Amino acid sequence: MNLVREAFLYQNRFNGQTMVFKVEFPVTEGAGFPYLMKDVGLLAASGIRVVIVPGAAECIDKALEEHGKRALFVRGERRTTHDVIPYVEMAAFHAATRFMTGLSACRVDAVIGNFVRARGRGVADGVDMEATGAVDKVFTEAIARVLDFGMVPILPCIGWSPVGKPYNVSSDEIAVAVSAALGAVKLVIVTAGAAFYARDFAAPEGVDCAEDGHILHLGPKEAALMLKMNADEGTDGALLSRRTPGTVKERSLSALSLAVAASKAGVERVHIVNGWEEGVVLRELFSNFGAGTMVYADEYEAIRTMRNSDIPDVLRLMEPLMRKGVLLRRSAEDIQERKDDYVVFVIDGAVHGCAALREWGGGQAEIGALVSGGEKVEAGVGRRLVQWLLERARRRGIKRVFVLTVSTQDWFEALGFREAAVETLPEAKRKGYDGERKSKVYALDVV
Ligand SMILES: CC(C)(COP(=O)(O)OP(=O)(O)OC[C@H]1O[C@@H](n2cnc3c(N)ncnc32)[C@H](O)[C@@H]1OP(=O)(O)O)[C@@H](O)C(=O)NCCC(=O)NCCS
Repeated sequence: MNLVREAFLYQNRFNGQTMVFKVEFPVTEGAGFPYLMKDVGLLAASGIRVVIVPGAAECIDKALEEHGKRALFVRGERRTTHDVIPYVEMAAFHAATRFMTGLSACRVDAVIGNFVRARGRGVADGVDMEATGAVDKVFTEAIARVLDFGMVPILPCIGWSPVGKPYNVSSDEIAVAVSAALGAVKLVIVTAGAAFYARDFAAPEGVDCAEDGHILHLGPKEAALMLKMNADEGTDGALLSRRTPGTVKERSLSALSLAVAASKAGVERVHIVNGWEEGVVLRELFSNFGAGTMVYADEYEAIRTMRNSDIPDVLRLMEPLMRKGVLLRRSAEDIQERKDDYVVFVIDGAVHGCAALREWGGGQAEIGALVSGGEKVEAGVGRRLVQWLLERARRRGIKRVFVLTVSTQDWFEALGFREAAVETLPEAKRKGYDGERKSKVYALDVV
């Protein structure tokens, strides 16, 4: 239910905005691909301007192999020679038509087009790159027109020079160039690698992780550092130097390196999601928790579990309200003791809100220590904190969430909470209920 609510809010916010999807080729071959297309089609049908850049690396490798040719790479860059360009064109369009087919099955029209002008890459490290191209220009007007018709533009990894010479341009480069040129609000990389679980990768200290251990967000510097930390033999700053990324880890890192390039080019949000997980795109975009890893280029707001180093900031937020009697008095030690209950709302790393969910047994939990504050804070922080905690409660099998309040009953009522009798509180809580304070009990059944 929460996902549906979030989806409505989100749809409103991104209606008419552009999102670019770069999908790696193995994902298009998987059993889940029709579902992915359904979800992407839903976004397109709901008014988001969807652009697709199909990855084709493995498809190109296969086509070359079938014709007795070897895939060549120079410092991680594919070198396409003149004699193999026909096979590369075939592979690029084969990959692109997979999307056309997938989308048309969902009644979404798409256009595979010549949306990129290319120029020869020239000579790299003393090697003639022949039919390897670079993006010379993105035809943004043509793309916009297709989008205006309610269609999805698909950009194969081929571009033509002004005199009609075909070049093989990396789909990563196209994804970055087109996202930047269209001012896309998001680039979504659907990888054939795995999600970024902190246990599987070397990660910078203090990165934000979800409860299941996957990395939620990385700033551009953190992402670049993470690439460096995971670079090893055969990788060149995580870009493979000799071949198409093969292992799951290599694929994930290559997606991360694309994300870093895109955020350097000014794309504000790049999401990396695991293409083998069904529904991953919608969950990443709509749910408060996210299902993938986001690299953000600009200021970023997020809710995450509290760390020890946040405690002074949390106390600073709570202090004036404790003085007024709006919040119960808690010391640094009290907070430290129940550290895992707390979440904080951070903007660019600084704490601007907090809240806690305390489990009392019997399927009940209490929301408390809720504060939203600071000059930078816009409306909605309190609501977002409560929704985040309700989702946490739901995931933990909590049936009922309650709050004891002296001054925010109307606010909680607007969120669906209803007044409840003190007798409905879990026994342990009832024992400690402070009759003097005469707090009101408001509760919500978690569904
Ligand atoms: C209650 C609180 C967390 C709400 O956070 P928030 O980020 O301002 O909440 P939202 O932006 O989602 O909502 C703002 C709306 O709630 C209303 N609102 C804020 N406090 C309210 C209250 N005590 N009673 C009724 N409505 C309230 C605002 O007027 C605003 O209304 P609008 O949207 O019509 O302009 C915040 O006001 C706060 O930190 N209060 C002090 C601490 C506190 O009372 N905590 C609760 C202890 S149980």
